Amino acid sequence: MQKVALLCGSLRKDSYNKALLEFVKANFGKEIDMFFVDYSQLPYFNEDIETPYPTEVRAMLDTLQDIDAVVMSMPEYNHSIPGAFKNALDWLSRREKPLAGKPVLLMGASTGPVGTSRGQNHLRLSLNAPGMQCLVMPGNEILVGAAKSKFENGQLTDESTIEFIGNVWKKFEKWVKIAPKWMEE
Ligand code: FNR
Repeated sequence: MQKVALLCGSLRKDSYNKALLEFVKANFGKEIDMFFVDYSQLPYFNEDIETPYPTEVRAMLDTLQDIDAVVMSMPEYNHSIPGAFKNALDWLSRREKPLAGKPVLLMGASTGPVGTSRGQNHLRLSLNAPGMQCLVMPGNEILVGAAKSKFENGQLTDESTIEFIGNVWKKFEKWVKIAPKWMEE
């Protein structure tokens, strides 16, 4: 695993989900090119403007060349996928499909008690669509509920969550090696 894209489902500056991805980068990304994908400036997806790709979409696609894996951390908005994030996924599902066949690890933090479980289920469905074809690691749900009590000053501090994510990451390293073979001819 050499190049890993980090996709945060929240655009909020002090996002807990961004903090979760920062945790992953700091702890598991030292020897890896691990980078955040900026989708904040994308236009609303509209088939009337998709060809040629708008400049902002082209720029996002360029950052996703040759990635080995993707880590997504997403809140749930009204039990589902935040609109701006879904818009980015819809752009990523067209023509070049840079996430197709890529191993994906899902995470989510919410201030509510169930830690994005409803939104994450919707995300799993979308990532399984023919336009996406993501190889989402099964099970191993990272659902960080009651986020206000698990972060301090923008840092994940909850010990059991830290230990759980560490164990899931070891499995993800294996998944990144074996999952893409499924797509090979
Ligand atoms: C929320 N929030 C929320 N929380 C939850 O557990 N279930 C939900 O369905 C929703 N719905 C929802 C809708 C909208 C529009 C907002 C703005 C918020 C609360 C959410 O978990 C909280 O704002 C998180 O802090 C958002 O994640 P970030 O921005 O910290 O990553």
